[in-house]
Amino acid sequence: MLVIILICLIAIAFYIKFRYSRFSLYKFAKTFPTDGDLPILGHTHWFIGGPEKIYNNLRTLVKAAEVRGRVSSIWIGPTLYVVSFNPEDVQKILETCLEKDNSYKYLQAWLGNGLFVAPIDLWKVHRRLMLPIFNNRIIEDYIEVFGKQGKVLVERLQEQVGKPSFDIYQYISSCMMDIVFETSMGKKMDVQHHPDTPYLRARKTVMSIINMRLFKAWLQPDVLFNLTSHSAVQKQNIDATHKFTDEVIQDKIAHFDEENCKEGRKDILQLLLERNLAFSNVELREHIDSITLAGNDTTALVISYALLLLGMHQDAQEEVYKELKNIFGDSQRMPTKEDISRMDYLDRVIKETMRLYTVVPLIGRKTRTELKLSTCTVPAGVGCVVIPMVLHRSKRLWGPDADCFNPDRFLPENCATRHPCAYIPFSYGTRNCIGRHFGMLAMKSVLANVLRSYKVSSEAFDRLKIEILLFPVHGHQITLEKRM
Ligand code: HEM
Repeated sequence: MLVIILICLIAIAFYIKFRYSRFSLYKFAKTFPTDGDLPILGHTHWFIGGPEKIYNNLRTLVKAAEVRGRVSSIWIGPTLYVVSFNPEDVQKILETCLEKDNSYKYLQAWLGNGLFVAPIDLWKVHRRLMLPIFNNRIIEDYIEVFGKQGKVLVERLQEQVGKPSFDIYQYISSCMMDIVFETSMGKKMDVQHHPDTPYLRARKTVMSIINMRLFKAWLQPDVLFNLTSHSAVQKQNIDATHKFTDEVIQDKIAHFDEENCKEGRKDILQLLLERNLAFSNVELREHIDSITLAGNDTTALVISYALLLLGMHQDAQEEVYKELKNIFGDSQRMPTKEDISRMDYLDRVIKETMRLYTVVPLIGRKTRTELKLSTCTVPAGVGCVVIPMVLHRSKRLWGPDADCFNPDRFLPENCATRHPCAYIPFSYGTRNCIGRHFGMLAMKSVLANVLRSYKVSSEAFDRLKIEILLFPVHGHQITLEKRM
């Protein structure tokens, strides 16, 4: 009995010391309203449950916070996050806080110090080195790959014509994987015909364990995670993905001279080697893995959501078709750079899709020094969360019809007065998405190929879930009819 009392007293003493050492943090947190939190747990219980429950809880929690004020707070156990829905504050957070929040560390087991998760000092150097490779002129060389893989997609979709509704995401995701693997490391994977390889299975397993860890508080401390079987499975599968990319890199280095003499398009890995950028082999792997991860599901999801929305809004789909007819006539040629630059309406459809279904729903950063926001000054070392999916549906920013699909919101005259951080699907500031031009070109090319060949139909859907990215609960269900 005495031992139990002693343990309790020691625990209480530790807790008091811990609270005392963070006195200024608690004082700061008290300066703005919060609700729905419990003692010690904070808001952790809102993030327990399946991916759909977490999405719904997050929306409820955030809706209440948005009504209460411009800046609010969320406690995940002892960790404080400041959340702002004010575009001016969002701009300050994304321009000033370039360090990623601690929650990205689960991705670090796989991506190491790749651009997506790199700590700030390393990120600054590597982002500067990589920017010229994501230059528009270089990315435009990949348009041929976008067209070629889009054509394979159109052929594969033929098997679904006239059939009941099916989930198009699997088709689009395989197409985007072929595009991203070929352009980033010159690897022709042909995922569209061979979707089940050990490497692809390993990637899927790693992603699902990382996602589980993000939203299951008890799996977050390394000591607890390492006690579970997930830890060994994650390690085994991460090793398999690393081995795959390492072999591609070694092969590239071995054949560097003969590849470099060749005229024409060069993949991103070849360009990184050619410029002799002082990256080690491990750093090259970390960057290539980051690019293949960041560039695939994001673009595949946006394309799939666009098809769902166009299936529900036949008038908009006819407008896209008319635009494509004007550009291509009856030709089935692959889209060129000039063709893509003429797809103004499709461009607006994609932008409106990314507003309504913001596939990267949350962005987490951390203050390094004090940060003055509209209603408070955030101390150093505090997490700052930006929630683009909430900003993009804010009636304050988008008007009473914020939930309605209207591509003309993105006509130049309608964008002119909008705050730059009212719309941030690719984030904002110097740590924004390095692949946004690549993504826009690829999405337009693939959609143009599909929509020239097929008419799509779909039903309204409203159930969503967060599995790192934003997915519809029942998939992207559409039906296809052949055009012409
Ligand atoms: C619709 C398509 C895409 C969307 C919506 C998107 C969105 C984003 C967002 C929101 C971020 C910042 C994330 C954060 O701070 O947590 C980001 C970063 C990044 N994206 Fe994208 N992305 C897309 C396509 C791509 C493509 C095609 C590539 C590469 C080919 C790519 C490569 C990256 C990389 C490497 C980063 C990390 C940049 C850095 O930290 O410097 N993304 N993306």
